[in-house]
Amino acid sequence: MELESSSLPQFCRNFEDYCRLLTEQCKILEVPRPDDYAIEVSYQLAQRIAQQIHFHGKLPFSEFMQQALYAPGLGYYSAGSRKLGEAGDFVTAPEISPLFGKTLALSVQQAWQHTAKHILEFGAGSGRLMCDILRQCEAEQCLPDRYFVLEVSAELKQRQQDLLREELPHLYSRVTWLEDLPQSFDGVMLANEVVDAIPFELLMQTEQGLAQGFVQTSDQGFSLTFVPTDFSRGWQKQHQEICQQWPDGYLAETYDLRGDWLSALLSTLNQGCLLLLDYGYEEEELYSPYRPQGTLQCYYRQKKHSMPLTLLGLQDITASVNFTQLAQQALDSGAKVLGFTSQAQFLTLSGIEQFVAQKEDSDTMPHVSVAQQLQTLLMPNEMGQNIKVLGLSKDFSGALSGFSSFGRQTV
Ligand SMILES: C[S@@+](CC[C@H](N)C(=O)[O-])C[C@H]1O[C@@H](n2cnc3c(N)ncnc32)[C@H](O)[C@@H]1O
Repeated sequence: MELESSSLPQFCRNFEDYCRLLTEQCKILEVPRPDDYAIEVSYQLAQRIAQQIHFHGKLPFSEFMQQALYAPGLGYYSAGSRKLGEAGDFVTAPEISPLFGKTLALSVQQAWQHTAKHILEFGAGSGRLMCDILRQCEAEQCLPDRYFVLEVSAELKQRQQDLLREELPHLYSRVTWLEDLPQSFDGVMLANEVVDAIPFELLMQTEQGLAQGFVQTSDQGFSLTFVPTDFSRGWQKQHQEICQQWPDGYLAETYDLRGDWLSALLSTLNQGCLLLLDYGYEEEELYSPYRPQGTLQCYYRQKKHSMPLTLLGLQDITASVNFTQLAQQALDSGAKVLGFTSQAQFLTLSGIEQFVAQKEDSDTMPHVSVAQQLQTLLMPNEMGQNIKVLGLSKDFSGALSGFSSFGRQTV
């Protein structure tokens, strides 16, 4: 059912009012104003979400985030804006350096000694990691029999296909883009910075107890409201004790949807392993008293902030990964934990240095020296310590150097 535009809240009743709101948001965030086309897409998304709220009531934050990132043709990952890389909103490890993909290729090849020579990559972004892995595997005459990609964004899928056609046209036929999880998979699954883009709920400790974040509308725009919650389901039920220790005003994220995503994925992994690389923590550190504002982050043109209701559909929204929850979910799904360590340890123990000795090879960011690329990938205050690697396996007898006991931490 379509709502008369006169019944929509004032901020998205007409394009001019919406432009004013977005321009105001850009001033507050100190970022450049998007072009009119981008504002038009954002405006349509705002109308769509406002209608949903009108008919069904306020939205749990996870549902708002799902729309903001993935609404068909309108959400951040579904519409056409350039997201990854220096000209986009944020930079991921494969965009920084080919050393990342080359080193992951070494781990994948190690795993192939104990499983089928297949890769299934989730959320392949620009396609950069896929190309770097394939190039390295080809150099070592150890190509995968098949490389599968499962990507939710039609726009990014197109970019991945274009990049592969441009860089490795002779390998194009080895890659298959899947629409859904396969019935069964043997081989190596990979997901770099995918879990942190899966929607989450917001919780706040209040004088009345724990409250859940919902998105509502007023004439001025979207706003958050926190409603007392009854601990009746999922994470909240299991974690009553943790939450009770939070002081009033403590904000956090919870991640039932991420657990569901992992279970679904592991149910299709028949034999082999899965590497999850992402910003995140073990649970105790994630919900520490020293992190009273949670870990929610938005990214727009390399600016980081924590206002998820602004720049609707034009910015990325993420929150750190709870690796303890994922490891527990994996055990509950019949998988084993192969290892858990920092990105720096994993890449170092997997042999990244062997590529450093080679000639300066910076095809992704030509002006950045190999030393700078390494620094970003490995230094503790950059991706080195902030990104963790969790390895999971099913019916797999091998081990990966990246998780050798020297690098192993608890999870
Ligand atoms: C932050 S980007 C990371 C891209 C890439 N892996 C990289 O490292 O550059 C997140 C990616 O995950 C994809 N994505 C998000 N949720 C997904 C899901 N449930 N299944 C598959 N891909 C997903 C997005 O479309 C996007 O390609």
